[in-house]
Amino acid sequence: MTPDSRIFVAGHNGMVGSALVRSLRRGGFDHLILKSKAELDLTRQEEVERFYAQEKPEFVFIAAAKVGGLMANKTYRADFITTNLQIQANLIHGAHQAGVSKLLFMASSCIYPRECPQPMNEGHLWSGYLEPTNSPYAVAKLAGIEMCRAYHDQHGARFFSVIPCNLYGQNDNYHPENSHVMAALISKVHRARTEQQPSVLFWGTGTPRRELLYVDDLADASVWLMQHYEQPDPVNIGYGTDHSIRELIETVCDVLGYTGRIEFDASKPDGVMRKLIDSSRMQALGWKPATTLREGIVKSYADYLQRVATPS
Ligand SMILES: NC(=O)c1ccc[n+]([C@@H]2O[C@H](COP(=O)([O-])OP(=O)(O)OC[C@H]3O[C@@H](n4cnc5c(N)ncnc54)[C@H](OP(=O)(O)O)[C@@H]3O)[C@@H](O)[C@H]2O)c1
Repeated sequence: MTPDSRIFVAGHNGMVGSALVRSLRRGGFDHLILKSKAELDLTRQEEVERFYAQEKPEFVFIAAAKVGGLMANKTYRADFITTNLQIQANLIHGAHQAGVSKLLFMASSCIYPRECPQPMNEGHLWSGYLEPTNSPYAVAKLAGIEMCRAYHDQHGARFFSVIPCNLYGQNDNYHPENSHVMAALISKVHRARTEQQPSVLFWGTGTPRRELLYVDDLADASVWLMQHYEQPDPVNIGYGTDHSIRELIETVCDVLGYTGRIEFDASKPDGVMRKLIDSSRMQALGWKPATTLREGIVKSYADYLQRVATPS
C-alpha cells in the first residue's frame, strides 16, 4: 500500500470505519474511496459490481455490517444473518472479480464458542456451539472469515480477517438499548453526575471481566496488517488484559468526576464471567495497543460530550 493506492473503506461512517479513515489519513493515505449507505447499498450485488468496475479500488477494508445490541440481535435474527451475508458476499466476491490487491474483513469476538477456554485464541474457532442470542450474526461473521480463506486457497487472493475484542471510543453508539459496555457505563455515570444522584446502581456483582480496546488502536493495527501481513489466517486484536466491571466503573467515575456511591444489584444477572481474546499472534508481529484504559475513557467522554450529551 502506497500513498497513491486507491483504498475503499466500507462502512466509513461507523465507529470502526471512521477510525480506519483517521488512521489511514494519519499514515498519509489520501486516495480514500468513501461511500455512504445512501450512495452505495452494499446488500445490492449489481450496485457493488458497478462500483468496483468504476472505482477500481486496490485495497478494501470491510467495516460495513449490520450491528446491534442484545435486543436487536434477538429480535431481528433474520436481518442480522441475511444483511451481513449479503454485504460480505458482494464485497468479497466482487473484490476477487475486480482484481483487488488485498482485502481485510472485520469479524468480531462473538464468533468464539460460548464455552470457549480463556483466553480465546484463533485455534478455538469452530470448536463449539455459539451463544444462541447472536448466533445469526456470528454465523455470518464466520462465513466472512471462511470466504477470505476460500478465495485465498482457490485463487491465491490476499484476503484475511481480523477479530477485535470489545471496542470503545470516538463515534461509539450511546443508544440506551444498543450500546456496548463502555458506552453504557459512560452515559449512566454521566447522568448520575449531572443529576447529582447520591449513588448509582449497576446490575450484577461487578466481578465479570471484560477486555476493551480503544477503536483507534484497532484501526492502526488493521492498517499495519494491510501493509505487512501476508497470511490467510485470522488475527485476534485485543487490549491483552481485561478488567472487572467494578474496575471499569471506578475508572469511569474517576474520569467523569462522579463521587457518589457505586452500588451493585447482585440479584440481577452477571452475564458471561470472562471474555478475553489471546492477541499473541498480533503481539508476535510487534504490535501493542497505544491507548491505556484511562486515556481511552478521557477521549471517549470528550466525544460523548461533544456529540451526544448536553454539557452541564
Ligand atoms: N463496535 C464494537 O465493539 C466491535 C467489536 C468487534 C468487532 N466489531 C466489528 O466492526 C465492524 C463495524 O462495527 P461498528 O461498531 O463500526 O458498527 P457501526 O458503527 O454500526 O458501523 C457500521 C457501518 O456499516 C454501514 N452499513 C450497514 N449496512 C450497510 C449497507 N447495506 N450498505 C452500506 N453500508 C452499510 C453503516 O452505514 P450507515 O451508518 O449509513 O447505516 C455503518 O457506517 C462490524 O463488522 C463489527 O462486527 C465491532
